[in-house]
Amino acid sequence: MPSDWTYAPAPEARDIVTLRERYGHFVGGEWLEPKETYTTISPATEEPLAEVGQATPEEVAAAVTAARTAFDNGWSEIAPSERAKYMFRIARILQERSREFAVLESLNGGKPIKESRDVDLPLAAAHFFYYAGWADKLEYAFPNQRPRPLGVAGQIIPWNFPLLMLAWKIAPALAAGNTVVLKPAETTPLSALLFCDVLRQAELPPGVVNIVTGDGRTGVEIVKSNGVDKVAFTGSTEVGKSIQRELAGSGKKLTLELGGKAANIIFDDAALDQAVEGIVNGIYFNQGHVCCAGSRLLVQESIYEPVVDKLKRRLTTLRVGDPLDKNTDVGAINSKQQLEKIQELVSSGAEEGAEIYQPPCRLPEKGYWFAPTVFTNVAQSYRIAQEEIFGPVLSILTFRTPEEAVEKANNTPYGLSAGVWSEKGSRILWMAERLRAGVVWANTYNRFDPTSPFGGYKESGFGREGGLHGLEPYLSFE
Ligand code: NAI
Ligand code: MG
Repeated sequence: MPSDWTYAPAPEARDIVTLRERYGHFVGGEWLEPKETYTTISPATEEPLAEVGQATPEEVAAAVTAARTAFDNGWSEIAPSERAKYMFRIARILQERSREFAVLESLNGGKPIKESRDVDLPLAAAHFFYYAGWADKLEYAFPNQRPRPLGVAGQIIPWNFPLLMLAWKIAPALAAGNTVVLKPAETTPLSALLFCDVLRQAELPPGVVNIVTGDGRTGVEIVKSNGVDKVAFTGSTEVGKSIQRELAGSGKKLTLELGGKAANIIFDDAALDQAVEGIVNGIYFNQGHVCCAGSRLLVQESIYEPVVDKLKRRLTTLRVGDPLDKNTDVGAINSKQQLEKIQELVSSGAEEGAEIYQPPCRLPEKGYWFAPTVFTNVAQSYRIAQEEIFGPVLSILTFRTPEEAVEKANNTPYGLSAGVWSEKGSRILWMAERLRAGVVWANTYNRFDPTSPFGGYKESGFGREGGLHGLEPYLSFE
């Protein structure tokens, strides 16, 4: 008989995923043997998973040429309804193979299987379904404007939602009639490489989608390439700015989706238990590796104590550990580099005078882990209130009036998202009008839908992904 009934592990079977020892680059529908390679690991165990390519300038050039050839030799000219059929196929195959992809995503990226299974995979498939529907309706979407594809799209994505970011990038590009060269992040290449298998299964014409792996050096080659007509980037503000400088005056189109430091604002008339769930989902979802994470909690002063009490109690129930365990709420930090960044910012918070709280939890010995963390006593000037931590770390501030909440929420170089919790619809609308954020969630947080445009103000970037807006950056208009 178990001595403790509170918990029994429920590990997801890993054998549904078959890894190759070594992966090349997917160019023109074939695997190109890579000149240089590196090892990709599981951040939860530091166990090596596979060798993958570090694409050289020549390999990137080959991928761009393959994309150009595919564009010129038919993809831009085939009936849009045919393009849609390929995309519907991709969406359906992703659904059929979703368990395999979810396990791989958790293995290579460290996120809980619960999330890759219930969020990343359904949303990735939904994105292809949604944009497949637009492929043959572009003339209706942009009436009297004669929408035309741009050519070759160079796409660079981060490691926090590897397959989902791939879908956000590839689906609108294909729907608009472009071809693609995409680079996944260096720590999470495997789901993009498995996706190449889906492309073959869907019989997508060779060269329409090309995948090259590697770190920032490979990214630079894609950005610089003369054969690329449009660059789409999601990642750090620092790299986003360098890409913008590189492309200035080149005539290439650019969209940037960068960081955030979102305010999640709780008014005293909010349903508190629901709000606490929203706070938890806002910052501990995906270990806080979320550009729109609700990392600054603004609580109305009159309810500060009950909110903090409830939140701390709730944190003690969060289960941190094996990403492949179906009970896990908070998985592994994606990389050693990211863990060090989180540790550095958290020590700065303590040094500047904030008070730290972490629930008791036993972190595994191997791998990269960080306990869910709450900071109280935070001043707006502290680094933990200003800089993106991109980890499971919440900074709590207070406000008295709605005006003060708006002022504090907007006091950031970013502007990607915000949350408002209140019973009053009029107050929510009043706030939404004044918050400088691309997305404002009301009485919920971190909700995504392919039909809804997503993107930022200020240093969070420009251009929108999702919805009708998401097609525009992939089209030219006459
Ligand atoms: P990063 O911006 O360096 O990496 C994102 C992608 O860009 C990766 O595919 C990377 O290989 C590529 N890349 C790196 N340097 C490049 C360059 N010079 N030219 C072209 N591509 C390049 O982000 P990193 O270093 O992984 O994370 C640093 C911080 O950035 C995080 O702590 C977080 O604050 C933020 N970040 C924000 C993301 C978001 O979703 N907005 C996603 C990832 C990171
Ligand atoms: Mg970097």
